[in-house]
Amino acid sequence: MPPTIEIIQADITTLAVDAIVNAANNTLLGGGGVDGAIHRAAGPQLVQECAGLMGCETGDAKITAGYRLPARHVIHTVGPVWQGGDKGEPGLLESAYRRCFEVAHQYGLKSIAFPAVSAGVYGYPMREAAVIAISAAQNAICLYPELERIIFVQFSEPAQQVYREAAARLGVK
Ligand code: AR6
Repeated sequence: MPPTIEIIQADITTLAVDAIVNAANNTLLGGGGVDGAIHRAAGPQLVQECAGLMGCETGDAKITAGYRLPARHVIHTVGPVWQGGDKGEPGLLESAYRRCFEVAHQYGLKSIAFPAVSAGVYGYPMREAAVIAISAAQNAICLYPELERIIFVQFSEPAQQVYREAAARLGVK
C-alpha cells in the first residue's frame, strides 16, 4: 500500500494516530494555539515530561508520550517566527518538518498528523508554509517506507483549501 497524504479539517487533539505534531515554542512548556490545546487534552503529565527535555531549538523536534490524547505520541517541533522571509525562515521550517519525520522514523511510527506549524501566531504565510509541509512529506515517503499515513490538519476551511492547492501544485493526488 503506498502511503497517503491526507488533508483534513479537524481538531488535531482528537486524532488516534501514532503521533500528532505540536507547534511548540523553544521552552516546550506550553503556550496558546495548538500547543495549548494539546497540553489541555493530554493532561498535566505532558508538561512534566516536557520539562525534562530542556527545551527545543527552532527547527528541531523532540518526542513525548501522548498521555490522555488518543495519539500515542506527541512530536514537539518549533517552527520559525516569520520576519519577512529573509531571516532563514524557509530553511528552519523545512528543518522542523524534516526532524519530525526523522524522530517518527526512529520510533518506527507509521501515522503522523501535523498542524500548520508556524502559520498561526508565528505568522508564516499559509501558502508558503503548506508547500514546505507537503514537500517534506513527499521526501519522507521516499526515505521511510514504513510510513502509512501523513495527515495535514487544518482548523478552518480556507486553510484546508490552501493546502489542497499546494498539494495539487506538487502533484499529490
Ligand atoms: N487542531 C488543529 N489545528 C489547530 C488547532 C487544533 N486544535 N489549534 C490551532 N490550530 P499556532 P505557531 C492551527 O499559533 O504559529 C503557541 O503559543 C492554527 O489555526 O498554534 O507555530 C506556541 O507555544 C494555525 O493554523 O502555532 C508558540 O509560542 C496552526 O494550528 C506559538 O504558539 C498553528 O498555529 C507557535 O506558533
